[in-house]
Amino acid sequence: MVSGMAKTQYYTATSVDGYIADADNSLDWLFEADSGRDGSPFESFFADVGAFAMGATTYEWVLEHESLLDHPNKWASFYGDVPAWVFTHRHRPVVPGVRLSFVSGDVRPVHAAMASAARGKNLWIVGGGELAGGFADAGLLDELILGVAPVTLGAGAPLLPRRLTSSRLSLTDLRRNGEFAYLTYAVGPNRYRIRATGVGTTTERPRYRR
Ligand SMILES: NC(=O)c1ccc[n+]([C@@H]2O[C@H](COP(=O)([O-])OP(=O)(O)OC[C@H]3O[C@@H](n4cnc5c(N)ncnc54)[C@H](OP(=O)(O)O)[C@@H]3O)[C@@H](O)[C@H]2O)c1
Repeated sequence: MVSGMAKTQYYTATSVDGYIADADNSLDWLFEADSGRDGSPFESFFADVGAFAMGATTYEWVLEHESLLDHPNKWASFYGDVPAWVFTHRHRPVVPGVRLSFVSGDVRPVHAAMASAARGKNLWIVGGGELAGGFADAGLLDELILGVAPVTLGAGAPLLPRRLTSSRLSLTDLRRNGEFAYLTYAVGPNRYRIRATGVGTTTERPRYRR
């Protein structure tokens, strides 16, 4: 159980040039890379996770790659009974017996529901990048944990298609597992205030000051 402040963390593997999947939505390049004697730190990371969220492409990838509809028990072997949220606009197949919620739109109410279900543990944003960006836009992302694989892809699904400069990101940890570099960044507050209006959401930029 995480004590103190639970975090919302975007933990993902990425290529050196900032892609989390190649242009064919494949992760073959990731499994090729040597993760070292101790493997990835995923297990210890996930031990502190109380809820997780992903986009529909990621969900479909996991379903297909692990044949989860034919072997639904595999889900529990990866994720235990930690509840998951899938962002989608469409009907998606459900892995039987899994605590899954299908949601769409604004990340903020989903974040609140996840935090409540997580009972003080961390929230994991699995990806993709646009979804993680939505949490960052809303000021709800606390940490990036990036496992950088020794590969460049040239094109694919972007890691985090946002402009977060060093005024918002600070490097808090750096380690090596095999050929992977693990970089942890704290994400600072969004200086742009997001204000809900009757017709949508507006973003107020701070006035320029000398
Ligand atoms: N390297 C890694 O460790 C890692 C980690 C995560 C993912 N991946 C891979 O990276 C790729 C990511 O794919 P992606 O960039 O397409 O991202 P994604 O977030 O997995 O999927 C995007 C789709 O999710 C749905 N969606 C996202 N936000 C939504 C919202 N707020 N409301 C409703 N629906 C929403 C939309 O689908 P619909 O409109 O069609 O429903 C959207 O097209 C996948 O291939 C995945 O396997 C790799």
